[in-house]
Amino acid sequence: MKIAPSLLSADFAKIADQIAMVEAAGADYLHLDVMDGRFVPNITWGPKIIGDLRKLTTLTFDTHLMIVEPERYVEDFRKAGCDIITFHLEATPHAQRLLTHIRSLGAKAGITICPQTPVSMLEDVIEDLDLLLIMSVNPGFGGQAYIPNSLKKVKEARALIDRYNPACELEIDGGIGRKNIAEVGAAGADVCVAGSAIFGASDPAAELRALKELCAPQTAGIR
Ligand code: DX5
Ligand code: ZN
Repeated sequence: MKIAPSLLSADFAKIADQIAMVEAAGADYLHLDVMDGRFVPNITWGPKIIGDLRKLTTLTFDTHLMIVEPERYVEDFRKAGCDIITFHLEATPHAQRLLTHIRSLGAKAGITICPQTPVSMLEDVIEDLDLLLIMSVNPGFGGQAYIPNSLKKVKEARALIDRYNPACELEIDGGIGRKNIAEVGAAGADVCVAGSAIFGASDPAAELRALKELCAPQTAGIR
């Protein structure tokens, strides 16, 4: 299981330390939530801030665009150093075109779906995806409660990926922590985003390691 700490819950007054800490603890990706106050009722950061963060780490930047008209901005985010660029299926009428565009910029291309969007909506683009992100909360904020129906969606997405595009990574985002990470891993998730679970913990590095451990029960206690 890969872990992608979400900077949404990090303390930006000491962001360099926060990034160094999760990197040293074994973070696989850094999850960057871009919000525009239109697609979601919250606002975060854009390419300038991400470009500045790029100087702090070589970790893969897993960028989750929660913005309308994502096609207008993907080039800027790629230039800022984003490695994976994921947009919402609900935010654009031309998802397949945008996937191709993101890949042509040299980034990995992902689609994410809100809790109300069925996994079957992705059937005809699954082969063009490098990453499929299942939202297990309504996007917009950290620290929300995990929506239990997400487990069914992870299983459906796993089946779709295994059938049509086994190289595609399956990621889940929202309300992931100690109580459910093993379950979503067993259901087929490859990458778990965790924001408040990690950065809200008294020892974020230990929490990250604990989450990884919970997904590898056969090795628990050996390291
Ligand atoms: C929510 C974001 C998430 C958020 C997750 O819209 O997409 O990445 O940071 O936060 P937690 O892990 O606290 O639910
Ligand atoms: Zn996210």
